[in-house]
Amino acid sequence: MSRLDVIDGASLAIEGGRITRVGSAEHVGRQADGEVFDAEGGVILPGWVDPHTHAVFAESREEEFLARCQGTPYGRGILTSTRQVRAAEEASLAQTGLRFVREMMCAGTTTVEIKSGYGLETESELKLLRAIRRLSQGLPIEVVATFLGAHAIPEGRSEAEYVEEITGRMLPAVAAEKLAEFCDVFCEAGFFGVASSRTVLEAGRAAGLEAKIHADELSDSGGAVLAGALGATSADHLLYVSEAGIEAMKAGSVIPTLLPGTAFTLGLPYAPGRRLVDAGLPVALASDFNPGTCLIHSMATIVALAVMKMRMTIEEAITAATLNGAAALGRAGETGTLEVGKRADLVVHDLGSYRQLPYFFGHDRVRAVFAAGRLVYRRPDETP
Ligand code: NIG
Ligand code: FE
Repeated sequence: MSRLDVIDGASLAIEGGRITRVGSAEHVGRQADGEVFDAEGGVILPGWVDPHTHAVFAESREEEFLARCQGTPYGRGILTSTRQVRAAEEASLAQTGLRFVREMMCAGTTTVEIKSGYGLETESELKLLRAIRRLSQGLPIEVVATFLGAHAIPEGRSEAEYVEEITGRMLPAVAAEKLAEFCDVFCEAGFFGVASSRTVLEAGRAAGLEAKIHADELSDSGGAVLAGALGATSADHLLYVSEAGIEAMKAGSVIPTLLPGTAFTLGLPYAPGRRLVDAGLPVALASDFNPGTCLIHSMATIVALAVMKMRMTIEEAITAATLNGAAALGRAGETGTLEVGKRADLVVHDLGSYRQLPYFFGHDRVRAVFAAGRLVYRRPDETP
């Protein structure tokens, strides 16, 4: 994670949406009929991969946010979003989400995961997943859908009853319509216990969906241990991960996915990023963009938080937000580095060096974004 291959004065050739050559200007050469984009000495990095968001919801929750800033603890906000989503149309959910995901794209994200989880009943979960699919059709970046029916227990239902609806009704419908690639569960006291989480993830896998877990976010919930035992693709959050959880993730080849924007927003201690990297784990970073616990959707800001608050080096944080994020979505062979054969997902940053990235915290230094070789964002020219 700590070694980036940096090429000064580099060029990069793209054909058919893929990187065909990369290296010195002489090595890459110039194609007679090709279009040229001059990065003007800026820094080109792979497009950010954001492997954990809840970007499709119906309405904002600023009153809950402001009350929390005044000391009210984080509580049942997911159920507020659930009421709003149940009342909304699929098309309007897609429209609302599209605005945020477009903003992410303009901030350099070229692959984004989006979870359901604000429906909490079969029809509404399917509506959310269809809205995610609809939204992705209007966008030039890649969207990966995750089914998170097990995000909270809906009002008036028991955990056992609701788990039965997830495994017996939701998962077969999600699989039949091929609406999601991953199945996720919020494994936490007051949400889903370890046994229910295992039941949901095993049923997901039987339906063809790989496992992800919201693990050890608000307490040591046993989520990372379960992720390891199941060989889940990723365990996410990990603010309170135990030593046993770290060992289990190593044994199970799990990608620890850290979301420092959430710790920042909730005023919680940060996940032990340094310790996880030192343990040899392939840490990934994600925004967790959602209406309740984190509104940050810029991966450059997440990278900066990882450097400032989790003692990850800038090199490690960049790897975590690109290649390891791609691995957390099963796409490390497709995107996340600037290598020949990979999809041409890249961002031109208006920086003198990648090492300036966390230093210019909160600045907008994205000059241009390419997704699959296509220019999808270019900063409007500064007015004089
Ligand atoms: O990742 N942990 C659970 N879900 C979200 C919060 C969702 C919400 O409050 O709407 C999270 O923090
Ligand atoms: Fe989350």
